[in-house]
Amino acid sequence: MGELVIRATVNGAPRRWTVAPGDLLLDVLRREGYWGVKNGCETGECGACAVLLDGEPVNSCLVFAAQADGRRIETVEGVAAGDRLDPVQEAFLDHGGVQCGYCTPAMILVTRALLARTPRPTEDEVREALSGVFCRCTGFKKPVEAVLAAAARLADARPAAPPAGRKPARKAAAR
Ligand code: FES
Ligand code: FES
Repeated sequence: MGELVIRATVNGAPRRWTVAPGDLLLDVLRREGYWGVKNGCETGECGACAVLLDGEPVNSCLVFAAQADGRRIETVEGVAAGDRLDPVQEAFLDHGGVQCGYCTPAMILVTRALLARTPRPTEDEVREALSGVFCRCTGFKKPVEAVLAAAARLADARPAAPPAGRKPARKAAAR
């Protein structure tokens, strides 16, 4: 069958790729240099290949590249701002959530998706979110601590809401 041209946004940048209909998103991303997308099993079991597709975690070994046409992809390469780590990455380092590191890109992305929809998750919610990413090294205790710490850190950094019932100050009228 013929090749396809697809367009997607990867970490905020527009990308245009020529792919075969059966190419996996995992293979295309790695071919294009997104090495943070790990190939662990190619059967949808380990979660190491997870990326965010329109903000939701997917195992990229279970998605055809053609299915990403017109969509927004996030990989771990887009998480840090230059040399400045994202608070989730910092929390994983600070709390010993990284050992061999093979699962870490997927854990970071899954965590970002979790905190985007549930800013202060319970430990059970964190464990549930991380359960799709297999980690041989950490026993999950440290990654769970890291996610809870990242949630707290991000909550502290958020501007406080005005007290209930108090109207925001009005701007002085322009003269
Ligand atoms: S490589 Fe995709 S789930 Fe393991
Ligand atoms: S840190 Fe090694 S597999 Fe998770």
